[in-house]
Amino acid sequence: MDIRAEEISRIIRSQIEGFDAQVDVAEVGTVISVGDGIARAYGLEKVMAGELLELGGGAEKLMGLAFNLEEDNVGIIILGSSDAIKEGDLVKRTGKIMSIPVGPAFVGRVVNALGEPIDGKGPIQSVGTNPIEQIAPGIVDRKSVHEPMQTGLKSIDSLIPIGRGQRELIIGDRQTGKTAVAVDTIINQKGNGVICIYVAIGQKASTVAQVVKTLEQYGAMEHTIIVSATASDPAPMLFLAPMTGAALGEYFMWHGKDGKPAGKDNPGQHVLCVYDDLSKQAAAYREISLLVRRPPGREAYPGDVFYLHSRLLERACKLSDARGAGSMTALPVIETQAGDVSAYIPTNVISITDGQIFLESDLFNSGVRPAVNVGISVSRVGGSAQIKAMKSVAGTIKLDLAQYRELAAFSQFGSDLDKGTLAQLNRGARLVEILKQAQYKPIPVEEQVASIWAATTGFVDDVPVSEVRRFEVEMLDHLRVNAPEVLRGIRETKALSDDAKAALKSQVASFKEGFLASMNAPAGA
Ligand SMILES: Nc1ncnc2c1ncn2[C@@H]1O[C@H](COP(=O)(O)OP(=O)(O)OP(=O)(O)O)[C@@H](O)[C@H]1O
Ligand SMILES: [Mg+2]
Repeated sequence: MDIRAEEISRIIRSQIEGFDAQVDVAEVGTVISVGDGIARAYGLEKVMAGELLELGGGAEKLMGLAFNLEEDNVGIIILGSSDAIKEGDLVKRTGKIMSIPVGPAFVGRVVNALGEPIDGKGPIQSVGTNPIEQIAPGIVDRKSVHEPMQTGLKSIDSLIPIGRGQRELIIGDRQTGKTAVAVDTIINQKGNGVICIYVAIGQKASTVAQVVKTLEQYGAMEHTIIVSATASDPAPMLFLAPMTGAALGEYFMWHGKDGKPAGKDNPGQHVLCVYDDLSKQAAAYREISLLVRRPPGREAYPGDVFYLHSRLLERACKLSDARGAGSMTALPVIETQAGDVSAYIPTNVISITDGQIFLESDLFNSGVRPAVNVGISVSRVGGSAQIKAMKSVAGTIKLDLAQYRELAAFSQFGSDLDKGTLAQLNRGARLVEILKQAQYKPIPVEEQVASIWAATTGFVDDVPVSEVRRFEVEMLDHLRVNAPEVLRGIRETKALSDDAKAALKSQVASFKEGFLASMNAPAGA
């Protein structure tokens, strides 16, 4: 066989040309200690804070998050079970800040804090990724809150109205109906295009399953994403879950329904994010921080837990028209201990949000449900988002209720009350009844207006207190059948015209006549 020198040199030349410096420049470090879900690694000089890292090798590869950058080592939180990682394992940089997959296909699904499906319905087709920490939109990109985010709950929509893009805290002790308020609000968004994200942090898996089941039952999973980090998940997952929820929400806020970036001609979407609850995230953050030996501050929380929550809640906003006018409303939940709102985490989150809904055990146990304490609950920006009709009927309730509470406490000791005081007590007791509402039964705003209008104009003053709730339910049924055009008018014009008032007056009066008559009639008649 004859080999031509010319050919050999050509092959060698082409090989040299093709030798494209394939040197792996990834920076690699080694694990020096590992335990409690935290690893320390040496040799990652250029690593970024929040960078995603690869730990171990081969089949046991795990992801980690660069959390603490120290002089000669990096504290890494391990995303997953740390059992497989041992001293001496390699840690590789990825050069990427941690992000999660996002996209419209997430709607209707249950995912974990890393955006991976956990509902057994197969993989989710994402359209890209969003970093879990995103700088909140600046002032120029924002607009003031002006559209209502109806919760469907009379006591909230009338007295503590929430606007799209607002941050409203739900705060209360254990078992006061915090989750119920959030779930009812999600159910009430059915059919109005608001994408809801329910982030369950540190709850029992069975509780989360119950929420999913309830939402499915009321047809609300079709517009909802559940992000779940249960009590049995490692602390880093509980810490990440709210940010994952926000990152998923930001996709919808910044994109139109067509999946293209939102802008002047392509309206962005509206998102509602519920973080249930941030006390558990704070506890998880404290755990991780103490493990990486950050100094403990008040109540042993690291000093920057305030910053953690403000970074998260600042991401909720109403975008300007140039940005597509999308919005993200945040409903963070905080659990208090024995009603103590002066603890560290509650005061922090109260000061970050635009108002709070206080739920109280005493009210809850005495049957006032939702157990909203309307005296100390506030919404600092939602007033401008409330529809005119509601504003006009609900204007005086807060004052009436405050006077009622004061008089009720005072009148316990005396029996001779003048007529005016008695009338106020009467009215107050009925207003309290009217604001009660069953769970999973959000009411459209026009019906809320009708109920509250009836109560504030004195139509229920002579209905016995124990019958007020039945009166209200049956009155709304009556109006739905006999005066649908009046209700539609309120919904469409968002105002309560004099004509509508007159129509309501005659309808409610005729209904009441029948109601009182049937009540007084002997049973079985
Ligand atoms: N409006 C309501 N009417 C009747 N029952 C209600 C109402 N709201 C809540 N409940 C009931 O009260 C209980 C507690 O509600 P929920 O789980 O929402 O409270 P929570 O404050 O979220 O509790 P946790 O602290 O355990 O998270 C539930 O059994 C729920 O069904
Ligand atoms: Mg709850």
